[in-house]
Amino acid sequence: MNRKLTFSIFRYNPQEPGSSPGTQEFRLEETENLNLFVALNLIREKQDPSLQFDFCCRAGICGACAMVINGRPGLACRTKTAELPDKIVLMPLPGFRLVGDLSVDTGAWFRSMNERVRAWIHTDEDFDPDAPEVVMDNHVAEQIYELDRCIECGCCIGACATAQLRSDFMGAAAMNRIARFMLDPRDKRNNRDYFEIVGTDQGIFGCMGLLGCQDVCPKNLPLQDQLAHVRRKMGRQALKNILPWYRN
Ligand code: SF4
Ligand code: SF4
Ligand code: FES
Repeated sequence: MNRKLTFSIFRYNPQEPGSSPGTQEFRLEETENLNLFVALNLIREKQDPSLQFDFCCRAGICGACAMVINGRPGLACRTKTAELPDKIVLMPLPGFRLVGDLSVDTGAWFRSMNERVRAWIHTDEDFDPDAPEVVMDNHVAEQIYELDRCIECGCCIGACATAQLRSDFMGAAAMNRIARFMLDPRDKRNNRDYFEIVGTDQGIFGCMGLLGCQDVCPKNLPLQDQLAHVRRKMGRQALKNILPWYRN
């Protein structure tokens, strides 16, 4: 016999006068291979068309469906109800502007983060559209590709205590982005330039290193390694800044 699931879902529409934060319960019979994405759509179609949540790809690629699932940030489209108990509590990701119910504005946060870390190739070379493509070393290209797998879902920010306490903290996604540009031979920035961006309490020195971010990253990005790598490089740069004779 199929399980009867109870969904306790956060409801609040900041755009609606008189709306106040709370939870609402919905019941649904579990079917084979049911995932949260389908369950939420069924609830919206059959029980409450006003329920707000985001999705786009249904395949763990767009990052839009991130939410807090029984206390842990994750992707709704990649979470099967069979992995969860009968009672499922869904909350919006903390740390982002709430649009309504389970929908948050991660786009504005990531746009601002990408601007803060200046996430583009910095070079003085003029672009010549007729020049042959510059070949990149395979190993370096693979390392960059590995870090570029971030889907900007925001789970690492939702799980980060520092980001919840301090809205100006850049978070693991930003350190991962910086690590990606540090690897890229086309980016001519040096450690002193990177230090200007992340050598602060809002950047790498604000990270407490408890690694909630890595635990919840749905793409299994090596955030622990990247945080340690950036911290090491910026730590050395901090020493060089105050002790000009310091080498390594
Ligand atoms: S290790 Fe750093 S970035 Fe990751 S959750 Fe902890 S404080 Fe946040
Ligand atoms: S680092 Fe992982 S958890 Fe963080 S935004 Fe990227 S994919 Fe999501
Ligand atoms: S809908 Fe795109 S990651 Fe879930």
